[in-house]
Amino acid sequence: MKNQKIIQGGGVIPFKKFSKEENEVWKLLCEKQMKNLRGKATKLHKQGWDALGMSTEYIPNFLEINKKLKKLTSWEIEMTDITYENNVEWVGALADKKHRITNFIRKKKDLDYTPLPDIFHDVFGHVPFLAIPQYARILEKFGRAIVKAKNKENKDHIAKLGWYGYEFGLIKEDGEIKAFGTGLMSSSGELQNAFSEKVLKVPYDEKVIRNLDISPHEFHRKLFILENLDHLEEVVNRWLK
Ligand SMILES: [Fe+2]
Repeated sequence: MKNQKIIQGGGVIPFKKFSKEENEVWKLLCEKQMKNLRGKATKLHKQGWDALGMSTEYIPNFLEINKKLKKLTSWEIEMTDITYENNVEWVGALADKKHRITNFIRKKKDLDYTPLPDIFHDVFGHVPFLAIPQYARILEKFGRAIVKAKNKENKDHIAKLGWYGYEFGLIKEDGEIKAFGTGLMSSSGELQNAFSEKVLKVPYDEKVIRNLDISPHEFHRKLFILENLDHLEEVVNRWLK
């Protein structure tokens, strides 16, 4: 979510030990969002969640998560104190199969909104998907495509394809439209908005996306539907040729 980032802090840091209060925030957020996601979310999220043995009770032990990811997809998560990072740089880091997560979690009084992506977004939203081999491969390809792109315009465009794909996309599954993007997984407001009448839901179309802006501080008015994971992989494959 909210990936227009201001660089603060120095980079990769050791995994933080979270306090009792911070784990309570995780539990409250998980319980609420798991209910919201019922019937609305892609089954991939639950598949990855189960494969990694994640719990709604506490923030995961990231060393354990990394052991499992290594076996499943050869990915790794890294903790960073960069709280706000340029979208293009964030996507570029994916080329090394490393997914950065923040060390910050919102306060109990701010349960429904965080202006910066926090642990709940990064870990509840993103991390389960890293256990799905095809998804992990697609994310790596987005990273490689951004690194390979020759100019800023193309880098921005590829980042935007990711934004409307893995970050805020919808996907067809068993004849229904499901939430797919990590920003929808981790935000009750974004999820509710996505399934409301206020949002135009249209087929994922690179040409339409090219002319759209990213508005990280407003709810989307247009979201894009992927046919399946192959569809997103074909999109990024074109940028790797
Ligand atoms: Fe994100």
